[in-house]
Amino acid sequence: MVSLRAFAAPVEIAPSSFTGALQPQVAVGAKGEIHVVFGQKDGAIFHTLSTDEARTFRAPVKIGALPKLALGMHRGPRIAIAGERVVVTAVSHEGGDLLAWASTDRGVSWTGPATLNTAPKSAREGLHAMAASGERVAVAWLDLRNSGTELWGALSKNGGASWEPDARIYQSPDGSICQCCAPSLAFGPRGELAAMWRNALGGARDLYAALSSDGGQTFAPAVKLGTGTWKLNACPMDGGGVTFLRAEPEEALLNCATCHQTKDRHRGLFGNDCAQCHATTKWTLAEYRHPSSASQSCAQCHQAPPSHYMMHFQMIDQKICGQPNAKVNQCFLCHQTTSWNDIKGVGFYKHH
Ligand code: HEC
Ligand code: HEC
Ligand code: HEC
Ligand code: HEC
Repeated sequence: MVSLRAFAAPVEIAPSSFTGALQPQVAVGAKGEIHVVFGQKDGAIFHTLSTDEARTFRAPVKIGALPKLALGMHRGPRIAIAGERVVVTAVSHEGGDLLAWASTDRGVSWTGPATLNTAPKSAREGLHAMAASGERVAVAWLDLRNSGTELWGALSKNGGASWEPDARIYQSPDGSICQCCAPSLAFGPRGELAAMWRNALGGARDLYAALSSDGGQTFAPAVKLGTGTWKLNACPMDGGGVTFLRAEPEEALLNCATCHQTKDRHRGLFGNDCAQCHATTKWTLAEYRHPSSASQSCAQCHQAPPSHYMMHFQMIDQKICGQPNAKVNQCFLCHQTTSWNDIKGVGFYKHH
């Protein structure tokens, strides 16, 4: 569930002593705990965790260190939550292998690394993706064991405790897929696995995807995405990202705002995609807690009524509140969080 605290003041994830923390990746566990992994230029890989909805993060724990850790341009460690376990993967440009660590105690201690590519150094390009569903973990990477770049993958069915031998997901009939665009992976609600990568076919650099309905064991033939084509004699160095829609397909087709615009309490501020935050049964959200009345960022979430942008504001509102210099966006100078008619220092104000 989207928490509107996301709009609150930024929180320090790693203390400032961690200079040069790069390429953070986030995974959220079933109980809402937030796991973050990041790398440092010297090759160290760290994990940190928040169990209080990102208010605080505990001191980062070092998972390991790799010479010439692949970091930057979508490279860097990846993290996934697989049941009760946390899995982290990373590539060393020097070793050329894709390594995986696992933790059974939410990142306090780590075991591994296991090497996922069976052909030595074949993952040296450093571009890879990971996704998990239940205990099942899938990893895919750009592989250089043969003459062109291919997409290879490996599976674990026990949260990274052990890995099955790697297998090829896709080989381009033209010899190579795009050489330096990150692939991506996502599990769907029924355990299906989607892999996406940029191809290099007939001089075109289009995005392709393949779907596995058996959790990554086998893949259906690859399909090109979109209707256009992109001829480019170079690598754009950006592979995009694949995901499954959270909503049920029928629900996703419903444009909530067409029927509920008049009920939009947010006056358009949160956009038209009501389903991003709301279910269709009731508008209230059990998890939601309003920011304290000491907050000064009211205007991030509240749009003032039209009257506040008219003479009414100078002639009435500023006078009632004894705030002749208040700007419209400084709601907190005049309003409480209890009700818009509960005016600070004045009490309940009845119009007319
Ligand atoms: C075709 C029109 C239509 C669409 C599209 C639609 N709704 Fe509704 N919705 C209604 C009607 C009619 C009701 C019942 C009357 C009411 O409460 O407004 C309702 C009721 C609701 C309620 C319960 C209101 C209450 O207080 O009991 C919620 C919540 C809701 N809709 C959310 C959504 C969301 C979220 C979407 C998009 C995924 C959506 N609706 C799409 C017409 C629509
Ligand atoms: C970014 C998240 C977000 C989006 C998008 C969003 N809302 Fe909300 N909305 C909230 C939150 C949070 C609340 C407060 C819920 C509560 O008090 O339990 C809320 C409250 C409401 C309420 C009042 C609930 C009550 O009875 O107190 C209504 C009505 C509402 N939203 C309608 C809409 C409509 C219509 C849309 C789309 C046009 C929409 N919202 C889009 C987050 C969102
Ligand atoms: C992080 C987002 C956020 C911030 C910051 C925020 N609010 Fe809200 N507030 C909401 C949402 C969401 C609702 C519920 C939907 C609605 O009524 O607009 C709400 C509801 C309200 C209500 C309506 C209560 C009712 O039921 O009539 C008032 C009054 C209010 N906020 C005042 C404030 C004031 C004053 C501030 C600053 C001190 C503030 N809010 C800061 C998100 C926020
Ligand atoms: C200078 C003080 C002042 C500031 C700043 C201010 N308001 Fe108000 N507001 C008032 C007063 C006084 C009223 C009641 C009289 C009225 O309705 O104009 C009011 C009324 C309202 C109402 C209820 C009126 C209606 O049309 O439903 C809402 C909603 C509201 N304010 C929202 C906001 C929001 C949101 C902000 C900030 C973006 C804000 N106000 C900034 C003084 C202020």
